[in-house]
Amino acid sequence: MAEKELCRIGIEELDTQLGGGIPIGNTVLMVGSSGSGKTTTCMQFLINGAKQGERGVFFTITEPLFKLTKNMAGFDFYDKKLIESGMVNLIDLRIISERLGLDTEKYSVEDASALLDILRDIADELNVKRLVIDSITALCYRLQTREMIRDFIFKLGSSLAAMSCTTFLTSEVPPQVFQYSQYGIEEFIADGIIFLGDVDRQGDLIRTLQIVKMRGTAHSRTKSAMSISSKNGIELAPLLKSTR
Ligand SMILES: Nc1ncnc2c1ncn2[C@@H]1O[C@H](COP(=O)(O)OP(=O)(O)OP(=O)(O)O)[C@@H](O)[C@H]1O
Ligand SMILES: [Mg+2]
Repeated sequence: MAEKELCRIGIEELDTQLGGGIPIGNTVLMVGSSGSGKTTTCMQFLINGAKQGERGVFFTITEPLFKLTKNMAGFDFYDKKLIESGMVNLIDLRIISERLGLDTEKYSVEDASALLDILRDIADELNVKRLVIDSITALCYRLQTREMIRDFIFKLGSSLAAMSCTTFLTSEVPPQVFQYSQYGIEEFIADGIIFLGDVDRQGDLIRTLQIVKMRGTAHSRTKSAMSISSKNGIELAPLLKSTR
């Protein structure tokens, strides 16, 4: 059987749990509540890719670029040169919307469709192998009806499926709730779901990461403890079962 082509995230234990990495071309929903580490994980994925010569693009709609770069500069993995050289491209979707003359807070069907076209053109033009949208929740929030959101998500899904890059979409959910998305539709276009949560251990909130699904690969479904540090960024370790 031919070896499946995998995209290594570059977070060692996570790649191991995935059986080597994400099948290339997959769209993965990175789910978590506020501060759970979604943005950091996605940035580490792009930076690690760039270090291996794979170009990436990060579309932000939640954090302005100056804040994003300031926060990421606190991590050793973050290499400004990769941004300057264009190996990792940071793009603020609100600025794109402004340039398109769109209302940046409220999108019509046409606006959303124009934005999708731009997104696809940028990814094509830069020939990116890794793409991040942070967050799909904030994008959908700008659409007025459930029907529009549904339509947009399915269009986004087919656009991404037609591209050959591996994609992370971040999804914001309320804390302490096990749901994958705000609108309940986002997961349907995802080939994979990674859930960032937490567990209470004697009053300490421990960050956790769990691969819920990943099409095309046999993966672990075990919940791991996750840490975030300046030195190593995102790291995983076994979650001790004890609840003493
Ligand atoms: N330099 C750092 N060293 C260690 N931990 C950090 C550092 N910078 C941020 N953190 C931790 O990471 C958390 C934020 O992670 P991140 O921004 O990736 O989360 P997020 O899920 O994207 O949050 P949001 O929903 O607010 O966008 C902070 O709340 C903090 O606990
Ligand atoms: Mg974030």
